[in-house]
Amino acid sequence: MRITLLVAAFLITTFTFASENDWGRTGHRATGEVAEQHLTKKAKAQVRELLNGMNLAFVSTYGDDIKSDPAYRKYNPWHYVNLEPGETKYTKEKANPKGDLVHAINHSIAVLKDKNATKEDKEFHLKLLVHFVGDLHQPLHAGRGEDKGGNDIQVRWFGDGSNLHRVWDSEMINDFDMSYTELAHNTDVLSKKEIRNIQQGSVLDWMYESKELANRVYDSVETGEKLGYQYMYEWFPVVHDQVQKGGLRLAGILNEIYK
Ligand code: ADE
Ligand code: ZN
Ligand code: ZN
Repeated sequence: MRITLLVAAFLITTFTFASENDWGRTGHRATGEVAEQHLTKKAKAQVRELLNGMNLAFVSTYGDDIKSDPAYRKYNPWHYVNLEPGETKYTKEKANPKGDLVHAINHSIAVLKDKNATKEDKEFHLKLLVHFVGDLHQPLHAGRGEDKGGNDIQVRWFGDGSNLHRVWDSEMINDFDMSYTELAHNTDVLSKKEIRNIQQGSVLDWMYESKELANRVYDSVETGEKLGYQYMYEWFPVVHDQVQKGGLRLAGILNEIYK
């Protein structure tokens, strides 16, 4: 009996963490680390003070860590954004009233800009902002609601059971097997102009970009398909680009707030 309970506890823990790990720890941290490399001196000093000495990579997984605490349940829908089937435009009226990823990022930015917000509140929302800008660049976090951003699309990953969302959250990044610093320090060399171009636009523009990419990701598999090296070869470069883009945009947001 005790063994059964232990096994059940293990399975629940394993699958809970496996399915709710978002970009995965490595992806989130690499995004934070890329952003660190592009902060202005002023922004870096402000960030360091707000985070009591920690850096963006360190706090990037906080948004997932609080999911296990029922006190933070209201933030669960903030990790993704779905448009209704056939809908191509995001409107506040049709948005999830409980909040979504677009609201999450804009709200966190507003708190950081608010002169009347407490330091504690700013610290909390800076940690959330780092996490959510990462999530926005995992295309399936702007995927379709009917399959929960690919969570309901079962596939095989190197022979094991998985789903499309998980392949994009963590399977590819984990199988590439680089640390978050290695990933963040092996990024495309971009000119100042290219960086500025990536940083341009609004949170909504970036959401539409992810949604477009999500459509390509949906077309990249059939339900039940066996995925492995070939899928990695074709799509890991996209994951890598998305991590870099997320980091550059996060730096752009913070440099703008602390200019
Ligand atoms: N994670 C959980 N539900 C989701 C959804 N509907 N879309 C994207 N990611 C999700
Ligand atoms: Zn996810
Ligand atoms: Zn998340």
